[in-house]
Amino acid sequence: MSPRTPLLVANWKMYKTVAESRVWAERFREAALREGLGQGRELVVAPTAPSLWVVATALDGTGVGVAAQNLDLGVEGALTGAVSGYLLRQAGAEWVVLGHSERRQHFGESDQLVAEKVLAAVEAGLEPIVCIGETEEEHRAGKTQERLLQQLSPVVAAAGPERWPGLVIAYEPVWAIGSGRTPTPEVIDEIAGSLRSWLGQQLPGVGAATRILYGGSVNEQNLASFWSLEHIDGALVGGASLDVERFVTMAKTPLGAKEERR
Ligand code: 13P
Repeated sequence: MSPRTPLLVANWKMYKTVAESRVWAERFREAALREGLGQGRELVVAPTAPSLWVVATALDGTGVGVAAQNLDLGVEGALTGAVSGYLLRQAGAEWVVLGHSERRQHFGESDQLVAEKVLAAVEAGLEPIVCIGETEEEHRAGKTQERLLQQLSPVVAAAGPERWPGLVIAYEPVWAIGSGRTPTPEVIDEIAGSLRSWLGQQLPGVGAATRILYGGSVNEQNLASFWSLEHIDGALVGGASLDVERFVTMAKTPLGAKEERR
């Protein structure tokens, strides 16, 4: 696959029991096989940790990937309550969402810790999807770019050019998550474009090929407007991904201009 294959990710956050996750995954499996979902694009689902195994098992053979929503540092050990990248990998995860604003806000994850988790993910053989985004206050103060680079810099420094390839960035403005509000597609593309050129300078040869997703109030109505953007390679979808029919619709949404550019 080309380095910037379109990518659509469902983030279920702390929703769905194991039984509900299984039902969703079995329905999605049927749709994926029946309708050839995933052609020309990658599809990934991030259930809660207890549901990883059943979702991975139900989706086996469909080409749909499975992501964890977090990992704890370490491999195995006396660390009560912790779940390492290694254990997530064994439970069926191939990807991991890291640095989500809800982790930063409610669990105190620092930019530095996120960078350490990225390394742990790569070490465990997981593909990291690193979330960055400004708060409403930072947005109003015109500090978006500054905040995004502050979040990304430790990740770039830790990963370096060797461990960077394959890493995905998700730009999720905190004020757009679950709010029904999004920046305009033009603004999103401008922000992603400047992140891309900054990455190209920091990591010559690999940075500019990085996939950048947009997340925050994405749904089946507005997805097409993000697919068409030059610097955006896909989306990270929260609430609208919980309903399997809605996510099937999104998985089928034509890639528009992205298709023509490929
Ligand atoms: P919503 O799509 O519910 O706004 O959530 C976005 C998000 O946080 C995905 O990671």
